[in-house]
Amino acid sequence: MLRVASLPGDGIGPEVCDAAVRVLGALPVDVTVEEHSFGGRAIHEDGDPLPAETLAACRAADAVLLGAVGLPEFDGAPVRPEQGLIRLRGELDVYANLRPAKRDGVDLLIVRELVGGLYFGASGRRADGSAFDTCEYSPHEIERVARRAFELARGRNAFVTSVDKANVLETSRLWREVVSGLAGDYPDVRLEHMLVDNAGLQLVLDPAQFDVILTENTFGDILSDVAAGSCGGLGVAASASLGDRGPGIFEPVHGTAPDIAGQGKANPAGAILSIALLLDELGQPAAARAIEGAVTGVLDDGARTPDLGGTATTDEVAEEISESLAISMPTTS
Ligand code: NAI
Ligand code: MG
Repeated sequence: MLRVASLPGDGIGPEVCDAAVRVLGALPVDVTVEEHSFGGRAIHEDGDPLPAETLAACRAADAVLLGAVGLPEFDGAPVRPEQGLIRLRGELDVYANLRPAKRDGVDLLIVRELVGGLYFGASGRRADGSAFDTCEYSPHEIERVARRAFELARGRNAFVTSVDKANVLETSRLWREVVSGLAGDYPDVRLEHMLVDNAGLQLVLDPAQFDVILTENTFGDILSDVAAGSCGGLGVAASASLGDRGPGIFEPVHGTAPDIAGQGKANPAGAILSIALLLDELGQPAAARAIEGAVTGVLDDGARTPDLGGTATTDEVAEEISESLAISMPTTS
């Protein structure tokens, strides 16, 4: 029995999580899903975006499914929903964020360092009217995520593009040194280095040239949205955040989309494809491939939400995907 902790969060988070859980329920997989308070909702209820009970439940689960957190009402507030997300990533030490992007001719995987760098630097602060954020990386932090990227490349096209800004940043020069130093352990994988500004350009002009893109936290945040934009849109992009042990976090790449929340317009594909990543990680590849096939089939010929030019609702898309799964995986196991 697989145990999934679901953290729907804010905005369209609960809408897409419901859809994803519905699809999970349509599969012949023995799983229980338990929902927990997180993000803005948890701030209202507990004053804490990551209540102790929620963190404990995540640690005890096999995987965490997450919607999204953050709402305009918390802009400038002392306690913000995003702090809960950053803390959860740190607590579970999910240092490798995997973001696949697929489209005709394009099949790339961004491996983003997730618990270091600028977003985790010794707390941002203000002094004398100026603001400071610190970017810091240790060799160990770079090595573990780089090894993950090399290993993942072995199961793909054996090509890693490591993205940095080594012509300007000291952290990037260390990044390049450490990654280059590991290349000898993976002689079967081709390694290339690319500066981040060029990587942004190349992702727009010719994303088919990439296999695995390895990069640090901030660059990866931006580049993965660029990749999502040039490969089917934010609504269909999924991600997995993994550590060495313990549960991974599986979530769509998009945010809470306050502009469309509560209207049934949210595309559930990103959340549903995150379930496929979750099943892959928990040793259920057949179920994962079935979900990918069902999502592709429905988005190509069936129900589509408005972001993809259709008129279907979130629920209608989830329903069609579930029905198509019931046909492709009829047996129970
Ligand atoms: P966003 O991803 O929420 O929305 C950007 C645009 O894409 C909006 O026009 C939205 O309607 C559209 N969009 C996003 N997801 C969609 C979906 N599934 N279906 C159809 N359209 C979709 O990014 P934005 O507006 O920058 O941020 C809104 C809030 O979300 C902020 O509070 C931000 O901090 C938070 N956020 C949270 C994330 C997380 O929990 N991992 C990630 C990114 C943003
Ligand atoms: Mg982002």
